[in-house]
Amino acid sequence: MDCCIVSALWCLIPLYLLIHFLCFVFADADFTLLWASLLGHRPEKKLKGLVVWVTGASSGIGEELAYQLARCGSRLILSARREDELNRVKRCCLECSDLRVEDILVLPLDLLERTSHEEKTKVAVQYFGHIDILINNGGRSQRSLCMETSVDVYQALMELNFLGTVSITKQVLPYMTLQGTGSIVTVSSVVGLAGAPLATGYSASKHALQGFFNSLRTELTDFPNILISTVCPGPVQSQIVHNAFTEQLNKPVAMAGNQEHKMTTSRCVRLMLVGIANGVKEMWIAQQPFLLFYYAWQYAPTFAWSVTNMLGRKRVQNFKAGLDADSAYFTKPKTS
Ligand SMILES: NC(=O)c1ccc[n+]([C@@H]2O[C@H](COP(=O)([O-])OP(=O)(O)OC[C@H]3O[C@@H](n4cnc5c(N)ncnc54)[C@H](OP(=O)(O)O)[C@@H]3O)[C@@H](O)[C@H]2O)c1
Repeated sequence: MDCCIVSALWCLIPLYLLIHFLCFVFADADFTLLWASLLGHRPEKKLKGLVVWVTGASSGIGEELAYQLARCGSRLILSARREDELNRVKRCCLECSDLRVEDILVLPLDLLERTSHEEKTKVAVQYFGHIDILINNGGRSQRSLCMETSVDVYQALMELNFLGTVSITKQVLPYMTLQGTGSIVTVSSVVGLAGAPLATGYSASKHALQGFFNSLRTELTDFPNILISTVCPGPVQSQIVHNAFTEQLNKPVAMAGNQEHKMTTSRCVRLMLVGIANGVKEMWIAQQPFLLFYYAWQYAPTFAWSVTNMLGRKRVQNFKAGLDADSAYFTKPKTS
């Protein structure tokens, strides 16, 4: 009898490991998030009717968040600097959902103008009466080597990605602690957890966000119904490379490259909404081989360093050859 149990275990354990391995090969998010997407609450049920404030809603991930949230029946506050683009996004939200015009507030906002944030928050709260979810999504990336990058660029990245986000969060948080519920969701990045070449300042700003929100979460233990969540996407289709900072302020990126090999914006946003609906505190969203990279950084840092150095060298070579660093990651640099 004992012999049978042992033999069964010998068969079941490798089978269990094989299933997990196969799941991992095809995974595009961490296991907690994937379990939530399989068995957890549906965003359509949990987010219906909630008031969600999305920054950076004029393009990319923020724009797609607006569409998917609208289809879930969430009421929306859409913010970014370009009001005309926000109005376009609002029109598309109305077309693709049952929302009424008054369910969406276009609230132009510059994350760099911190003195305006108190007033903007008041306008949002007065319009809907409260805010259920703040999604700190607005931000810019970087494509430049450290030794060639002006300190002004580092300052701009910290002002926008870190301080702009902290400023809005500090305005919204008192309303949430008063009502005792709410979610503050911040779009960080894979480089908020790890490091990557050409993104020293961007990575620093996202690491700063991770530190800030991980610490804030521990300060809010008396508010168990307030969720502090960080989202760490890998490469996702958007305007991020086109809008990235370079060596100098106001110098545009020379070539944004083809974005098609990246995760679709709709898949990334779907996973984000699943994470929010299920109270996931940190979300890793990326296709392979990037997902492996997150796990390596978390559980096998020595191995992660060697892989990062190998890919990093290649990425710098590609960048110096004038190629888009992302799309040319796994191919030979072509110089002619
Ligand atoms: N795409 C990726 O591969 C990827 C990966 C990891 C993390 N992320 C993060 O995802 C977030 C969204 O980026 P995305 O990929 O969707 O890029 P995107 O298409 O360039 O969108 C960036 C958004 O941020 C807004 N923004 C920029 N500067 C702003 C300012 N000063 N004040 C207010 N809003 C500002 C932009 O709107 P306006 O220009 O109208 O102001 C735009 O709506 C960012 O935080 C980014 O770091 C992206």
